[in-house]
Amino acid sequence: MRDDSQLTGIQTEFSRGTILVSKTTPTGVIIYANPEFCDVAGYSLGQLLGKPHSMIRHPDMPRAVFSLMWDTLKQGREFFGYVVNRCADGNHYWVLAQVVPDVDPDTGETISFHSTRRWADPQACMRATEVYRTLLQAEAVERSPRQAVVAGRQALQDILTRAGMTYEEWCFSLSSL
Ligand SMILES: Cc1cc2nc3c(=O)[nH]c(=O)nc-3n(C[C@H](O)[C@H](O)[C@H](O)COP(=O)(O)O)c2cc1C
Repeated sequence: MRDDSQLTGIQTEFSRGTILVSKTTPTGVIIYANPEFCDVAGYSLGQLLGKPHSMIRHPDMPRAVFSLMWDTLKQGREFFGYVVNRCADGNHYWVLAQVVPDVDPDTGETISFHSTRRWADPQACMRATEVYRTLLQAEAVERSPRQAVVAGRQALQDILTRAGMTYEEWCFSLSSL
């Protein structure tokens, strides 16, 4: 279990043109990260390889968003989402992430996933933070992680239904960039 008290609350900035890339096994174990990803996250490639991608998970990320991500990927579809990640030094950074299944053309089997993350508009991050806070609150009162996911997904669906959007549409509605 990581120690959340080591979070600094400081955002690590990176330039708009920077793309942070990582690749995983079908179960989310990191098998590649580009130098930009390593640099912003504050880890060497050697420290990342073979580790579950949850090693950079930030506690401000609701379980519901990752649940939706995995459901989308398992259907063979790409996923877009606003994600806040934790750096090795306890800082954090926001991204607009795209996660894509890499499918073997012969067997149709997913052989890996890759993610490209871009600079995220601070206004969009603020709005995502507000919604994620609501999801975290819904998840926090539940007794088990499984129940927390159900409650978080329901809270997310309620928000999206009111907005008349899918999660992906909502993400793109947050920023005009
Ligand atoms: C290609 C790929 C990239 C991912 N990138 C991130 C990421 O940047 N940050 C993150 O917290 N989880 C990321 N995940 C999701 C993690 O695998 C994991 O589901 C998530 O951190 C929640 O972990 P937990 O259920 O153990 O709390 C990624 C998964 C895949 C397949």
